[in-house]
Amino acid sequence: AHQWRGVIEEYRDLLDIPLDTRAVTLGEGGTPLVHSEWLSGLTGGEVWLKVEGQNPTGSFKDRGMTAAISVAVHEGAQACVCASTGNTSASMAAYAAKAGITPIVLVPDGKIAAGKLAQALVHGAQVIQVRGNFDDCLKLSRGLAEHYPVALVNSVNPVRLEGQKTAAFEVVDRLGDAPDYHLMPIGNAGNMSAYWLGYQQYAAAGHSSKLPVLRAFQAEGAAPLVLGQPVEFPETRATAIRIGNPASWKLAEAAKDASGGRFAALSDDQILSAQAELARREGVFVEPASAAGVAGLLAELAAGESYAGATVVITVTGHGLKDTVTALEFFGEVPQVVVDADIDAAAAAAGLV
Ligand code: F0G
Repeated sequence: AHQWRGVIEEYRDLLDIPLDTRAVTLGEGGTPLVHSEWLSGLTGGEVWLKVEGQNPTGSFKDRGMTAAISVAVHEGAQACVCASTGNTSASMAAYAAKAGITPIVLVPDGKIAAGKLAQALVHGAQVIQVRGNFDDCLKLSRGLAEHYPVALVNSVNPVRLEGQKTAAFEVVDRLGDAPDYHLMPIGNAGNMSAYWLGYQQYAAAGHSSKLPVLRAFQAEGAAPLVLGQPVEFPETRATAIRIGNPASWKLAEAAKDASGGRFAALSDDQILSAQAELARREGVFVEPASAAGVAGLLAELAAGESYAGATVVITVTGHGLKDTVTALEFFGEVPQVVVDADIDAAAAAAGLV
């Protein structure tokens, strides 16, 4: 049986990285496209979830990080740096550990999910909490890379997008063609830009007959792409996309326009309720930000938009276990049902009698 080799070895010929780059890999990519009966029923189309939480560190960031760390090591880097709302730092820390180089992460103080902070620390990162938001962290991270011998691996490093575009290849490989629509959350705007690169490249190589319409969703309190101007103090409970001035703004805007797509914003309640429904109806537990694409589809259907007969892919970007605190807030007080080790008591508590 074929063992998946990670996105560099699976797609090396299609990636713009030095030919002799040795892959630093944890087996990322090859994530499942899960058919959603629930959303297909609602739309009258075929809706698929690209479940990126099944990557090694639990988010899509691993696709770009295998590429960025491999190339950084190829170029002789001994340390790497990134700004992050959590997932990039978790991923960088893991790949840096694998490569034996030093990871330095800059995160907004108190504003990243506990699971992600744990990942960065456990993999041995120097974690620096910055009094400021992601955008401040990115400025610092660029500055450090400019003045000190550390490789910058945020998605402003084009090698990140080379790795991340492989998700589009996988979608086409699995469906046999590009979907009609591709929906996803958007924050710093690297991922949408990468998908567009991938879809264009695959179509040009004759692997697909069309390009999808891209629709990307922000949180209302952090929606610079929708407002058309930076947001100085971004706020949302979907902390992964709490970003006010996306670095890949121009690339994502170009992808949106070229694909005939759009940006839209959702309330935190819409995002969190989509997260809960997805978990209950489909068995797919994602972190809050990751549910923005699903929330976007539901909001558009409610507004009368039609996806009837269309093939739709929604990327769910990260695993729900990264942020159990926010997930459990859905319940208010976490239900605690405690019984004696007694069958009648258990049956009664389970509602079986
Ligand atoms: N979903 C999740 C779970 C994310 O962590 C991110 C970005 C996005 C969506 C948005 O993707 O930035 O490419 O538009 N997280 C970055 C980080 C910013 O630092 O982990 P994007």
